[in-house]
Amino acid sequence: MIASTTHKTSSVTVPFNHSNSTAKSCNLSLQSLPYKQTSIIAHMDKSLEVSTSTIKQELPLKIGIVGLGAFGQFLAKAFQRQGHNVLGTSRSDYSEYCKDNGIDFFRDLNGLCEAQPDVLLVCSSILSTEDVVRGIPFHKLRPDTIIADVLSVKQFAKNLLLDVVPSDFGILCTHPMFGKFSGKNSWEGLRFVFDKVRISGNSAQQRKCEQFLNIFQDEGCEMVEMSCEEHDQYAAESQFITHTVARILSNMNLESTPIDTKGYETLMQLTKNTVSHGSDLYDGLFLYNVNAIKQASSIQYKY
Ligand SMILES: NC(=O)c1ccc[n+]([C@@H]2O[C@H](COP(=O)([O-])OP(=O)(O)OC[C@H]3O[C@@H](n4cnc5c(N)ncnc54)[C@H](OP(=O)(O)O)[C@@H]3O)[C@@H](O)[C@H]2O)c1
Repeated sequence: MIASTTHKTSSVTVPFNHSNSTAKSCNLSLQSLPYKQTSIIAHMDKSLEVSTSTIKQELPLKIGIVGLGAFGQFLAKAFQRQGHNVLGTSRSDYSEYCKDNGIDFFRDLNGLCEAQPDVLLVCSSILSTEDVVRGIPFHKLRPDTIIADVLSVKQFAKNLLLDVVPSDFGILCTHPMFGKFSGKNSWEGLRFVFDKVRISGNSAQQRKCEQFLNIFQDEGCEMVEMSCEEHDQYAAESQFITHTVARILSNMNLESTPIDTKGYETLMQLTKNTVSHGSDLYDGLFLYNVNAIKQASSIQYKY
């Protein structure tokens, strides 16, 4: 059972190997040295011990993005910023974009899976994700690959992945609670919700999962570990309501006036940002979160 508490994960990542073998291979005889020197060497040895025990030796991850739309591209930039290798595929042809941005583009999921990413990250629209996930050729991936997603609705993603993904594969459900507007300049303090739905303990899979989560932590995100079910309850109260209000305002075709208050300016900006996501996201938030339907009827009832 996944704990629904909030906490931070932490670990140090370095792109190079540390080893105290140099110190050991010197084979220094401490007894034959004056006290001051033995004390210095003992201290050096101690600090090497500390650094080797706290620093993990990690190679960059190979992250395969499925769905190179606005959000997939936005995430790819952060993965690359942190030195990871990004591969991608999408329904549309993004080969030019990928060439210009250092992403290995594959025409289809077969090619991407043959390249054997450590993490396959589903970034497709909510409405298309079931078809996308059912189309993954799992036999081409290593059996300990982590299948992760960033869908804004989590219970649906979790149930789908548990239904389709073979049992040795890891499943990590995530929802970055920000996008290209709110996370444009920095991700500092922005919330990142995750649920380790199925990650085998004490394994390479677990280490890669932590390494993947550390990308968001190192960007400054507030890491929130929470069950997918709990996420959907909160999201219906916050994200769905925000999008619904923005859609209502957008349908009113509001215009700026010469005497706009700060509050009105905020509403106009919210409407502009939210509506720019297109209708697929809103339809997904409404149709794929059972709690959203309750919220929608509560709006009707109250007004
Ligand atoms: N935008 C955000 O701020 C934000 C924040 C957190 C999470 N998310 C989640 O991230 C995901 C992507 O969001 P988005 O903002 O990029 O826009 P979106 O409209 O929700 O999704 C666009 C992506 O879905 C793919 N797609 C759409 N219809 C498809 C179909 N029939 N078959 C296969 N692929 C299809 C598109 O592929 P092509 O481009 O190749 O056509 C594109 O990669 C969503 O699940 C959303 O919930 C978004």
